[in-house]
Amino acid sequence: MELRVKRAPHIDTEITVPGDKSISHRAAIIAALSNGICRLNGFLMGDDCLRTVNALRALGIRIDEPEPDTIVVHGKRRVLNAPTDEIDCGNSATTMRLMAGLLAGQTFESRLVGDASLSKRPMGRVIAPLQRMGANITAEGPDETPPLCIRGGSLRGIRYEMPIPSAQVKSAVLLAGLFAKGKTSIVEEIQTRDHTERMMRYFFVRTTREENGTISIFGDQVPESRDFRIPGDLSSATYWLAAAAAQPGGHLLVRRVGLNTTRTPVLGVLVRMGAQVREAIEDVDQLEPHGIVEVTGALLKGTVIQGKEVAQLIDELPVLAVAGALANGTTIIRQAQELRVKETDRIAAIAQNLRVMGAQVIELSDGLEIHGPAPLRGGRVASFGDHRIAMAFAIAGLFADGETIVQEAACAEISYPGFRGALEGFMNPKRGPGSTPVIGSLSLAPAE
Ligand code: S3P
Repeated sequence: MELRVKRAPHIDTEITVPGDKSISHRAAIIAALSNGICRLNGFLMGDDCLRTVNALRALGIRIDEPEPDTIVVHGKRRVLNAPTDEIDCGNSATTMRLMAGLLAGQTFESRLVGDASLSKRPMGRVIAPLQRMGANITAEGPDETPPLCIRGGSLRGIRYEMPIPSAQVKSAVLLAGLFAKGKTSIVEEIQTRDHTERMMRYFFVRTTREENGTISIFGDQVPESRDFRIPGDLSSATYWLAAAAAQPGGHLLVRRVGLNTTRTPVLGVLVRMGAQVREAIEDVDQLEPHGIVEVTGALLKGTVIQGKEVAQLIDELPVLAVAGALANGTTIIRQAQELRVKETDRIAAIAQNLRVMGAQVIELSDGLEIHGPAPLRGGRVASFGDHRIAMAFAIAGLFADGETIVQEAACAEISYPGFRGALEGFMNPKRGPGSTPVIGSLSLAPAE
């Protein structure tokens, strides 16, 4: 499937986006370990999260799908059955890394496999701490790549200083820690998204966080079953927020979107680039803040993205790079070498596609230097099978002369079912009154 994109007319609308991918994975896993039935509304029915659902089913957990965005998980008090077959994690590194943590402490053997892209992704980062906890886990591919073979057993708590900031690694260790003897601590020098800790707390599993970034969990706790409503995914919303931000006078409201501060630095970047961005938290009832984001666009200016904020906006960098190409001046992205080991080498993919569209880009070992503003021109760009590259370049197409064709774009559904329909709405908006500004007073300070 390819996406055919043309220049967007004036943006003035409001939208909602599908459920948060990271939160959906965690909610399903922790509900499965709980002592009863949990109804999860707003669940992201994209392929990645469905891989986690199917992995849990393979371990004997009943999961119903009564409504299009709702799953009901029948927790079995931490009891999991041996799978009868290998578990296919598809394209989802979150599934593979979190399940590795969960399976490390079970009494049976399991094998985790993935698609061609996932089979090239580094697993040494979860294998190292899990082995220290006593797990018997091996990567069958070269350089510690999948498949993963896990012979579960009894684990002991460790203290682990994460060498790279990764929420997936942290989550794998915390899930293993739930099945380990004693206390497991992870030290994160740079804070990563904290959805696992929040979800555990919501299900009454005690974790602690110290000032120095040490997160600890004691084993042997059983999550209390509860219902949960998953907010919209800010990473998905960012495609449209960036589009509105880059269109002078563009105006967009996104409702019921997650506003966890470990995810919102992307909004600070849009502010630095000159857009007007406001957020209003409506609720933190279930420990995950969510609310409204409102953006008014401008002729953007280039910015520098580096240091601590990189880990907290890593998934938004492809579309921020597109915004950089539209901005006046130079946008520099550094210390983002993790982009090279995502679903594809995103640094190379962004550089190649931006060049196809006429932008001036220098590829750096750990990032990009983009010289804007580029008069983008349509053309054929590749998705490289990567959902975020496909969507970022659909947004570029909204600003290009002529038609932009994003090839092999079905992968967008992995994290954003309905992306194509939403894109259609930006290219051919229905005539209506437009959205009215709703947030009067709050404005975001630029990120440090
Ligand atoms: C995720 C963490 C990030 C992110 C990924 C989802 C998660 O990966 O890029 O899309 O849900 O924990 P890393 O842990 O590799 O940084």
